[in-house]
Amino acid sequence: MHHNPISIENLSYIYPDGTQALKGIDLHIKATERVALVGANGSGKSTLLQHLNGILLPQEGQVVVGEYQMAPKNLRNIRNFVGLVFQNPDDQIFMPTVWEDIAFGPMNQGLQGKELDDRCTLSMHAVGLDPERYAQRNAQNLSGGEKKRVAIAGVLAMQPQVLVFDEPSAQLDPRSRRQLIYLLQSLPLTQLIATHDLDLALELCDRTIVLSEGKVVGDGATEQILGDRDFLERHHLESPLSYSRPYCLLEDVQAIDSVTQNGNGKMVGLGVKAIEI
Ligand SMILES: Nc1ncnc2c1ncn2[C@@H]1O[C@H](COP(=O)(O)OP(=O)(O)OP(=O)(O)O)[C@@H](O)[C@H]1O
Ligand SMILES: [Mg+2]
Repeated sequence: MHHNPISIENLSYIYPDGTQALKGIDLHIKATERVALVGANGSGKSTLLQHLNGILLPQEGQVVVGEYQMAPKNLRNIRNFVGLVFQNPDDQIFMPTVWEDIAFGPMNQGLQGKELDDRCTLSMHAVGLDPERYAQRNAQNLSGGEKKRVAIAGVLAMQPQVLVFDEPSAQLDPRSRRQLIYLLQSLPLTQLIATHDLDLALELCDRTIVLSEGKVVGDGATEQILGDRDFLERHHLESPLSYSRPYCLLEDVQAIDSVTQNGNGKMVGLGVKAIEI
């Protein structure tokens, strides 16, 4: 059992050009809790996440992850157990080949030989990248979704205790997204997931935090927060698709098929699975 809570108190951040991205954030995330961070473009999600492994250091307030306060002297330790997947994989991938990029983190942790190979192979499989096919590819030439998967594999390969994801499902195809959801569900780690994919938030996280203009404006049960249409609209968000009945229910299928029945009494599907009635 790992004890790696995240504690953020009164955190504010102003970029050098004067843009105030965070305004007095207070947040406490328990060890092994999986929490979604949602908010409109520019609300401060990425800025907040970058404070969790010291890419940005608090200008005001404090951030504590596990037993470490975010400060230059603790960065090495913090980066060893906090894995941050960047919003843009191009900011994360920097080695020439996929294998070298994924191996970079665990090598720095001292792994070598078979242990290192096994760690990298496992991480690639975890994100659906076949090592035979991808290990020696030039990482810069991959598609957006492939790059995102390499970036996630590189973080998993370090076996972090705290996972911080900035838009993990952006650019992923439906199958890779589903695989990622199962993977995150299976990891008993503290997880903070910034996402515009509200259906992913609904499926993965019991708790959701809403940011708006650099402030926490909502923090509670995901179903409650994402079910409150007026609140979401006020903060330029929409209910998850799965709340707006996008798929045909059984009655819909029956209604459609009843007007598409052919002469033989067989059902003709209209892009939905036809069922016998
Ligand atoms: N390097 C920077 N210099 C100046 N301002 C910045 C910088 N990076 C971000 N900002 C500003 O800080 C605010 C928060 O940006 P941030 O990237 O954290 O938002 P976000 O919630 O992650 O948005 P998105 O959903 O688009 O990813 C925005 O107003 C943005 O314009
Ligand atoms: Mg962002």
